[in-house]
Amino acid sequence: MPAADVDRASLVVAVDGPSGSGKSTVSREVARELGLRYLDTGAIYRALTWWVLHDGIDPLDPASESAVVDRLGSFELGISTDPSDQWVRVGDVDVTAAIRGSDVTTAVSAVSAIPQVRGQLLTLQRRLIGAGGIVVEGRDIGVTVCPAAPVKIFLTASAVERAGRRAREFDTTDERDVSAVQADLARRDRLDASRSASPLAEAADAVELDTTKLDIAQVVAAALTLVRERTGVIPADRVGGRIGEPR
Ligand code: DC
Repeated sequence: MPAADVDRASLVVAVDGPSGSGKSTVSREVARELGLRYLDTGAIYRALTWWVLHDGIDPLDPASESAVVDRLGSFELGISTDPSDQWVRVGDVDVTAAIRGSDVTTAVSAVSAIPQVRGQLLTLQRRLIGAGGIVVEGRDIGVTVCPAAPVKIFLTASAVERAGRRAREFDTTDERDVSAVQADLARRDRLDASRSASPLAEAADAVELDTTKLDIAQVVAAALTLVRERTGVIPADRVGGRIGEPR
């Protein structure tokens, strides 16, 4: 039964899951199909991590936690919510590429485990989400950031498949092999799922999709079916109006 009071302009689709589950690609594509905005919350945690590293702070040193917290008040984030044109800025520095670097990837779980960090970034995420009309991707969206979202999807995939996908994303000139990527993913999964503040978690009302044996198009199709069943919202170009026009 479609949920009452949900139209394209207020719809929030929450997509959670571990690294390599296909979240980003699927969420971006679902947002494009539905004419919605898209928020990559992992990019926000990565941008903060880039910034503290840039300031010479080592987030992996537990003694640096207060230095990270001190920086929160002056964190100036700019982030695109256009699924077809993603960029991230800290102050006036474009960090879109830099936040994907291995230094940031190694340190981001430590930064995102700090409760004050999560509190501050929660406010920021809610401001960006506003009244809705958005697909939001992360680790705690269905449980903490958007608990009232009418559509919640939890993507999973086997550890081997997730590592293989991440390894393929890296340039092969990077000497990391699949087993090294798998070890790093396992380390991040453990940290993300075991931290006390808002860990990676599946909402009770989420629909779990195992993407191990599915390609992107199949996962997107399953997500769009779920959105239609739950809310009645269908892809924008099938409404009979222009893309992005409210249903
Ligand atoms: O999705 P990603 O790999 O870009 O996320 C980077 C890190 O950010 C991830 O290791 C955990 C953290 N994160 C989080 O704690 N909560 C979110 N909503 C999104 C990401």
